[in-house]
Amino acid sequence: QPKLVAIPGSIRTYSANLAVLRTLADHCSARVSVDIFGLHHIPPYNADLDTDTPPGAVESLRAAIEQSDGLIICSPEYNYGIPGVLKNALDWASRPAYNSSLKGKPALIMTASTGQFGGARAQSPIRECLSATLCRVVIRPQIAIPRIDKKIAGGRLTDPFTLSQIDEAIEDLIKEVKLGKGAAP
Ligand code: FNR
Repeated sequence: QPKLVAIPGSIRTYSANLAVLRTLADHCSARVSVDIFGLHHIPPYNADLDTDTPPGAVESLRAAIEQSDGLIICSPEYNYGIPGVLKNALDWASRPAYNSSLKGKPALIMTASTGQFGGARAQSPIRECLSATLCRVVIRPQIAIPRIDKKIAGGRLTDPFTLSQIDEAIEDLIKEVKLGKGAAP
């Protein structure tokens, strides 16, 4: 079954976006295996450090993406945009330019926020950023989960409607994975 790497756009211990990904990993375990990669140890991007021996956490991030069949991002929106920790990690992962671990990698974007728009304003910037890396972002209805604080209990997503959205999105990501590397730009 496809092996996916899931990246939460928040490094908060009780992150709702982490909870969504944790739930997704359990909920979809019959169809995909999901490893969650937390961004706590990724340093600020610095081209001086982006050598043949980059910081260990960066090496791990790139290897996790490289060894996966696809990527899932679940992120909050910070001030109508991409949280810095996520943008920073994508910047590290994007190098070498146009030939990184992200090239041709199927990617599903999800957002969740406490607000009424579910972090929808971060969807386009994340998509745009991933398109610069030649990622194959899955084109499908957006999953933007509003009022996320009301839908988490015990560190798990409990909302049946959102879970059904996730089910469908995972099917679409699996379809993209099955297209294979031939679909890469
Ligand atoms: C936010 N939050 C937020 N929410 C939103 O809908 N639109 C926004 O522009 C912002 N901006 C923003 C900026 C900063 C600096 C913080 C800390 C928070 C609220 C955010 O959606 C909420 O805190 C989420 O719960 C964060 O996700 P995690 O950490 O629970 O995964």
